[in-house]
Amino acid sequence: MAVLNVLEYPDPALRVTASEVSEFGHALKKLVADMWETMYLSKGVGLAAPQVGKPVRLFVADWEGNRRVVVNPGIVEADGAERSDEGCLSFPGIYERVTRPAKIRIVYRDENGKRHDETAEGYLARVMSHETDHLDGKLLIDNLSALKRAFIRKKMGKKPRGR
Ligand code: NI
Repeated sequence: MAVLNVLEYPDPALRVTASEVSEFGHALKKLVADMWETMYLSKGVGLAAPQVGKPVRLFVADWEGNRRVVVNPGIVEADGAERSDEGCLSFPGIYERVTRPAKIRIVYRDENGKRHDETAEGYLARVMSHETDHLDGKLLIDNLSALKRAFIRKKMGKKPRGR
């Protein structure tokens, strides 16, 4: 396994629309293993492939021991709305209240290509919704007010680049 470099806002690679995964082979499993290692080291609860510079529709998530490897997800139903604090490994040190569906139905495949049809609630639904957004180049900052967006842009722009 290897620890991958997590891209930080405003890296343009975070804005790409990721491609569907078609091969469920060794390369995918290796990427998943590296993403787990990277996510746990960074103390994140979710990590999407575009955040490590791989423009494919894949994310990993672990919310309180609920571990998911999610490939080619589609959120087919969303109900309710909840506001809660949310962070993102591509926005280190930033936590903002974001409104997300309280409950989602999400269909996806795992790293073996097995199909899943899951209903998730609460924070797990939030994590899966946040990570699915990454696959379409949508970021935490897009869910905030213009004022907060401007503040975060300024703060992230001033950060010394570690790459
Ligand atoms: Ni994120």
